[in-house]
Amino acid sequence: MKKNKIGIIGAGTMGNGIAHVFALFDFKVILVDINESVLDVAKTTIINNMNRQLKKGVINNNQFKNSINNILFSKDINNLFDCDLVIEAIKEDFDIKCKVFKELDSICKDSAILASNTSSISINKISKVTKRPDKIIGMHFMNPVPIMKLVEIIIGEDTSFDTVNFIMDLSKFIDKIPVKCNDSPGFVSNRILMPMINEAALCFEEGVATVESIDQIMMLGMSHPMGPLKLADLIGIDVCIYILNILYDDFNNVKYKPAEVLLTMKKNNKLGKKTGEGFYNYEF
Ligand code: NAI
Repeated sequence: MKKNKIGIIGAGTMGNGIAHVFALFDFKVILVDINESVLDVAKTTIINNMNRQLKKGVINNNQFKNSINNILFSKDINNLFDCDLVIEAIKEDFDIKCKVFKELDSICKDSAILASNTSSISINKISKVTKRPDKIIGMHFMNPVPIMKLVEIIIGEDTSFDTVNFIMDLSKFIDKIPVKCNDSPGFVSNRILMPMINEAALCFEEGVATVESIDQIMMLGMSHPMGPLKLADLIGIDVCIYILNILYDDFNNVKYKPAEVLLTMKKNNKLGKKTGEGFYNYEF
């Protein structure tokens, strides 16, 4: 397994977490981003997060030293040419993802599997822009990647058994728990999660309860480790709206229409943790 070279495109929140995990398991990783400063931040984030794991005794000194040397940080997508697997973790935007998949399809060797970490975009639609639909699959890691065990594996209508089996084995090898589902709007995770977040936002909008009360009721009553509004802040209000709109359009059902309060928050750049303000306030 370790002989497989892993490429990751997009070094933001998810990309650097995915690179972190593969590097810890001694894979050679190339992490690509168009933005040089994002690559610098990704390197610092990975070192800081690995340091935290070292202090907690999750990894040892040798693992720490070797892991960071396993990652090549690059601005050049062409460096992914000999990767066995490339995981795309760029912005959640259909047109941008299609452009990148087309490019990867022409750069990467024929045997390479191309996976997307998309939260909601159809794997079938992405696969159509490539000449290798059998090797296109969804690998939906959860945030924060080094901690969360689940990888939602999204199987497109053309994804081959070999591709699915390889990705299942690889995910287990890096100590994750892969769970399969078929390609469908929002897959399983976001089809269930996003309406809950939207409903929580509507409860707040209609004055049914305060932000804190809504979150407390769901945490104490349903054993959720985090309330839905805090989770919306963590995911990003803009991302929640994007996914709700995909569900709204693809199912053509108003029950997925984003709550007004979410749209207003987006307009005012209150996007949650990343902008310092959402349903809660955050200090940088
Ligand atoms: P992010 O905004 O933190 O990072 C995206 C990165 O992609 C940026 O650094 C940007 O410079 C880079 N990028 C954009 N276009 C590029 C290109 N053409 N070539 C190379 N790099 C490019 O985004 P985040 O949150 O990491 O999300 C990435 C993907 O993961 C999205 O599809 C998102 O839906 C999905 N996801 C996000 C989760 C989250 O909690 N943030 C959870 C699970 C999935």
